[in-house]
Amino acid sequence: MRDFDGRDGIMLFGGIPVTEIAEEFGTPVYVTDESRLRENYRRIYGAFSKHMDTKIHYACKANTSLAILKILEGEGSGIDAVSVGEVMTCIKAGFTPDRIMYTGVNASNEELAAVTELGVTVNIDSVSALERLSKIKTGLPVSFRITPGVGSGHSDKVITGSKGSKFGIPDKSVIKTYIRAKELGFEPKGIHAHIGSGGQSAEPFSDELEVLIGYTNELKDLGIDLDFIDIGGGIGVPYRPNEPEMDIDELGASLTEMILEETDVRTIILEPGRYIVCDTTVLLTRCIDVKDAGTKKYVGVDAGFNTLIRPAMYDAYHHVALGNKFGKACTAKYDVAGPICESGDYLAHDRALPNPEEGDTVVVYNAGAYGFSMSSNYNSRPLCREVLIGGGRAELIRDSECIEEQWRHQRIPERLIR
Ligand SMILES: Cc1ncc(COP(=O)(O)O)c(C=O)c1O
Repeated sequence: MRDFDGRDGIMLFGGIPVTEIAEEFGTPVYVTDESRLRENYRRIYGAFSKHMDTKIHYACKANTSLAILKILEGEGSGIDAVSVGEVMTCIKAGFTPDRIMYTGVNASNEELAAVTELGVTVNIDSVSALERLSKIKTGLPVSFRITPGVGSGHSDKVITGSKGSKFGIPDKSVIKTYIRAKELGFEPKGIHAHIGSGGQSAEPFSDELEVLIGYTNELKDLGIDLDFIDIGGGIGVPYRPNEPEMDIDELGASLTEMILEETDVRTIILEPGRYIVCDTTVLLTRCIDVKDAGTKKYVGVDAGFNTLIRPAMYDAYHHVALGNKFGKACTAKYDVAGPICESGDYLAHDRALPNPEEGDTVVVYNAGAYGFSMSSNYNSRPLCREVLIGGGRAELIRDSECIEEQWRHQRIPERLIR
């Protein structure tokens, strides 16, 4: 987990006291450090590109803020998009369609038509999608998502590559699907798999790659030469204090060596989401209420699972600190709970904290991936603000919603209006 500095008991984020950011922009607020974002991108790109031609397709589902996309666009990233909305958002942020690959699961005909119309490469997830796409447009360069039979992830809910998964083309159909694609007039250019999200060990990636290499060479023997192998995303990051980090240089060296030695393919694509954005961002939330419930003590804050759903949805650990009592001695253990009317609404369980009081600035770490992008209006609460720290300044990159925005698509039938 990333460490932060403090000054006079106040945590600094991007060089700015978190208390000042919370004061200026209100809470809850997601705050992103631009320089860390750039560093993360460069680190993962460098780990692979020093060995072979590498394309990073940032998995924008992790965080689709336009300002964040714009920074990654400037760094030279490509995009992994899973919906026409994500494709359009990335184009809005400045990505040209040739830098975007669309990998939709259970993609409707309307969505396939829309993404091909926008000119992005389609990574086809099923035999049905191939046949349906051929009736919309053929002659396109395509790749295929296969089910590698290897899964990895921080929770069962995000493991995607295991046998029997809803994602990808199953083992027995892979070769037939490429042959069928050629018959239909498509140009198969690559092969793709994604094993899951948040894995912290290198082995599943090499197991997955072995499967992709096997198909690549089988296809070559059949006269289908692929330009790229896309290993998907899923590289995990440490969320807990003292948790070790995966050695990205070692991963880059070993995976590229496998491709270079065992195939004729000379381009690797990766789709990191979490790795690039996770530790760039903290969620600042305010302590509203402190309660001793006898068997448990609570710190009640103004961000619930409407703002950050990962703890409630995946039992995910997010480190929590009091930004205005940074480094102070902890006094007791608390659950950090939000304002949503459900007992499952919490951000953290049993955390030792230094005498929490109303008004404290509570900092939730590692909130950049699947944080804001999974937030909701549950309990009619507005989506919160986002702030970017860059060049020593804090700037608003998304305003919070007003209640009218939650009503704008709703209609009350005339007959109900008296
Ligand atoms: C196809 C695909 N690629 C990449 C990713 C990104 O995963 P991560 O954020 O763990 O890197 C996902 C996440 O679900 C995915 O489904």
